[in-house]
Amino acid sequence: MTAKIISGKEISRQKRSELALEVKALKEEGIHPGLAIILVGDSPASLSYIKGKQKAAEEIGLHFKLEHFSETISEEFLLNTIDQYNRNNHFHGILVQLPLPSHINETAVIDRIIPEKDVDGFHPINVGKLVTGQDSLVSCTPAGIIEMLKIEGIQMAGKHAVVVGRSNIVGKPVAQLLLKENATVTCCHSKTSNLSEITKQADILIVAIGRANLIKGSDIKEGAAVIDVGMNRLESGKLTGDVMFEEAKEIAGYLTPVPGGVGPMTITMLADNTVKAAKSIVKAKA
Ligand code: GUN
Repeated sequence: MTAKIISGKEISRQKRSELALEVKALKEEGIHPGLAIILVGDSPASLSYIKGKQKAAEEIGLHFKLEHFSETISEEFLLNTIDQYNRNNHFHGILVQLPLPSHINETAVIDRIIPEKDVDGFHPINVGKLVTGQDSLVSCTPAGIIEMLKIEGIQMAGKHAVVVGRSNIVGKPVAQLLLKENATVTCCHSKTSNLSEITKQADILIVAIGRANLIKGSDIKEGAAVIDVGMNRLESGKLTGDVMFEEAKEIAGYLTPVPGGVGPMTITMLADNTVKAAKSIVKAKA
């Protein structure tokens, strides 16, 4: 079997053009969704992610602002900046790019963004709403993964979904979303002792553990849908996923490439969350 390659790039293009139309219509009603991104320091990886986010925001017609600070700023300065954006009516989404320098407490920063503007879906209120099945802003990568599975017509209900990785950004929230879609969910992580035995049972395999080429063809069930969230930069500079692409594509039924799979969808869902946040903030004020 040769897997169908799921092009996150193509799905994103379609979704971004729909979002652009929605933003145009909102602007005609006097609502201009705005996204503020705050970057502390000059990490090349963060700069590259943000460039992609800015490009998408501009393509879709969002109001966009990048606040780029030196890595020596204090936590208090960063928290005060967040407070200003929490109050600023021109911005409906606030994203602080992670990781932050070690002298700044990441949890304090995430908690400071008001949940209504938390387009990353990292605030404990939004995480709690996700777990209890209430509408909320959902973390972008997990939301993008579910969107791709739905667009490809991959059934989740009743299927065994295995998530490899338990980060707050991807593993935990995607497991919750898969549960919401009525999948039977197993979460594996770095301490799982019989990983291959479990991944081989997956109808849907989501790999987000950040280890280049961890999942081999022999770890995959024939015909499974395999979503590779890994973004590992090899010494050669090449970007590689957590799944051995060449082997996996001979066994899986569906497979996402790296790059061009989950990455573009994450960025598209950030724009989607910004539009959602703008609509619900304006509605709550009416
Ligand atoms: N750094 C890597 N991924 C992310 C993300 O999804 N959101 C933020 N804020 N920072 C990140």
